[in-house]
Amino acid sequence: MAHGQSFGPAGAGKAETGLASGAEPGHPGAMQVRTLILGAGAAGLFCAARAGRDVLVIDHAKAPGEKIRISGGGRCNFTNLHCAPEAFLGRNPHFHKSALSRYTQWDFIAEVDAAGIAWHEKEAGQLFCDGRATQIVDMLRERVAANGASLWLETEVTGIGHSDGAFIACLRRGEKDIEVRARHLVLATGGKSIPKMGATGLAYDIAWQFGLGVTETRPALVPFTFPERRFTEISGVSAPVAARADGPSFEAGMLFTHRGLSGPAMLQISSYWQDGAEIEIDLLPGVDAGGLLDRARREQGARQIGTILGQHLPSRLVSHLSGGLRLDRRIADLTRPEQEGLVEALHHWRLRPGGTEGYRTAEVTLGGISTDDLLSRTMRARDVPGLYAIGEAVDVTGWLGGYNFQWAWSSAFAAAEAIRDIAD
Ligand code: FDA
Repeated sequence: MAHGQSFGPAGAGKAETGLASGAEPGHPGAMQVRTLILGAGAAGLFCAARAGRDVLVIDHAKAPGEKIRISGGGRCNFTNLHCAPEAFLGRNPHFHKSALSRYTQWDFIAEVDAAGIAWHEKEAGQLFCDGRATQIVDMLRERVAANGASLWLETEVTGIGHSDGAFIACLRRGEKDIEVRARHLVLATGGKSIPKMGATGLAYDIAWQFGLGVTETRPALVPFTFPERRFTEISGVSAPVAARADGPSFEAGMLFTHRGLSGPAMLQISSYWQDGAEIEIDLLPGVDAGGLLDRARREQGARQIGTILGQHLPSRLVSHLSGGLRLDRRIADLTRPEQEGLVEALHHWRLRPGGTEGYRTAEVTLGGISTDDLLSRTMRARDVPGLYAIGEAVDVTGWLGGYNFQWAWSSAFAAAEAIRDIAD
């Protein structure tokens, strides 16, 4: 389906233009639910489990929660012990505070414990399943079923309309066109990352159709690419670094690849990187390179420069970095300007990426449905009663390390509570 054609901008009154033909009200396949959730990923499933009675959650994929299944190397980094508002990007730096404070990492940990799923902290507060990520999917599916909600897979959305206070979704399930009327519509179809896994811009299209803003989107938590395969000769080399783009510095691993730079430190700073800008890498974080070289000149003067550097960095990286400097010279013979140049290169290595790997491999999408048009307490559209947006579809993006799933749980909780508590 070409969403751009089916979901034009419209006020609530005109929104029926999005309806697929043959699906007018009164169509024989029409059915009614209280709440329709589009997208059975992390946020959609969590919402379906808590949104009260009469919920239908649909997804065009063959299985729900596919990103959960592949996340965290198959073990799902489901939250982070240090989850705090500072770990999230978005045009409004305060929007996500409400949802995150009402359903916290401790709340989700309690869910996981109650489901008997064993977990461990890997590093920096990142919590992973001891077993498989599918345990989290199974837990969510069980909760959805326990809430009596229906889950339809392999179901396409062909149009969305609105009339008489109800949303009208035209769905295609197998060969069948089905019209579903719902009082509450929740957009939970995520962002554009990894189209091969079924990511689409559906939530943005529907938001736009109902007059909500959508901020510019771009791939985030994504490896950098460099022209001319600059690091091919050292691909596979990794090192702990501190790196920054136009934002905070991240201390984590960096990996050289055939196409550029990857590893957690690079993914983190990619969210802050602007096209064409430089990034800065400290190859010896926490080490005083100047002091280290001074000491080596004093105490190990006969040793080669390369040997000294190789004590702190992978030797292939040292060779790559040497530039014009001969590494087989004695460290004692290093001139002061050469040493200063070396220290600068080690602590402030500046590089200008050519781009990123894009949505093909990005873990998340930066930007999305504008938080200006949503109520932070409920995730409801400010001016469209009954319409909600949750998870990655919204302009809230977390750091690497379990923050994005926490946003999915917290935002879904906020919407679910609001929907459940409405008397209708
Ligand atoms: P999500 O993408 O999970 O779900 C959206 C659902 O909507 C999907 O099931 C999709 O099929 C469906 N959909 C899309 N378009 C549709 C359409 N047109 N019609 C019908 N259905 C449609 N985060 C984290 O915190 N810890 C981690 O370990 C990882 N690891 C990780 C690894 C990889 C490889 C990726 C790509 C991403 C991660 N993430 C992560 C990010 C995390 O997966 C992501 O932030 C959440 O899944 C977002 O949850 P949502 O429910 O919003 O979207």
